[in-house]
Amino acid sequence: MATWSAPGKVFLFGEHAVVYGKPGIAMAIKPRVYVTVRNTKRPQRAKSPYIDGCFETLGVMGSVYINSQIPSSSGLGSSAAVTVATLSAINDEFSLHKTREDIANMAFEIEKTVQKGRASPTDTTVSTYGGIVFISGGSRRRLPPQNMHLVIGDSLVSHSTSKMVEQVAELKKKHPEIIDPVLDAIEGVSLSAIHHLGNPRELGRYMNMNNSLLEVLGVGHPQLSRLILAARSAGAFGAKITGAGGGGCMVALCPKQLKHRVAGAIEASEARALVTGIDTEGVRKEKNV
Ligand code: PMV
Repeated sequence: MATWSAPGKVFLFGEHAVVYGKPGIAMAIKPRVYVTVRNTKRPQRAKSPYIDGCFETLGVMGSVYINSQIPSSSGLGSSAAVTVATLSAINDEFSLHKTREDIANMAFEIEKTVQKGRASPTDTTVSTYGGIVFISGGSRRRLPPQNMHLVIGDSLVSHSTSKMVEQVAELKKKHPEIIDPVLDAIEGVSLSAIHHLGNPRELGRYMNMNNSLLEVLGVGHPQLSRLILAARSAGAFGAKITGAGGGGCMVALCPKQLKHRVAGAIEASEARALVTGIDTEGVRKEKNV
């Protein structure tokens, strides 16, 4: 029996722009998913296409138990975390000697297959390696980890990442003279923000700028705006949509002593708040329980 866990993720900068080869910055965050795999020599009924994909990719059969602390379908990377942890647990239980890089690549391929080609390697990379990851075109590199006090607000408004990506593509086709400079401006924000990861006050300003630009792309939602304004009013350094938008989550960067006040303001706006921070470790082995 082998138990492995992997973290969720949050986009700090550059969502949507990354679809057009612009840079983005994503961070692994605290809620984890725990996966236990046992070599039972008999197949277990499938629980999800991601888990099926893991067993198929590695060509073995076994039983699996999942304990996820990451809310699913919220843009916090739960499917990537499940896939990365399941592949790692199978790799361990069946002594397959795959490297971390193999795991990250296989997890991305599985996400791509299940999501019918619509997946970026961001979630699987962040979940595998942890910390802060800079994505630019095809390349990904880790940035020095920083301790950040984050509050995520789940608007509880359902959204579809592929629909939002499509919507931005249509807007860009209709108004390239407006949207192209906005994507360039998001790139400018991400490239400047890299130099201020250790300065929360400054970083918050960049988050606010990024949010305004996301609004121009049309991925805002009244409930997200409410949560973002509530977080800023409660003392956050900055707050923005995170991920695809149109619903889903926002993220606020807070002074340590104010994070619970910000969480309270978000909860008071009929949303779910999650106080979190960086998870510097990616996928890891847990003690068998
Ligand atoms: O839905 P999320 O949080 O995984 O974010 C999607 C981010 C996009 O840039 C809109 C799409 C992508 O694949 O990078």
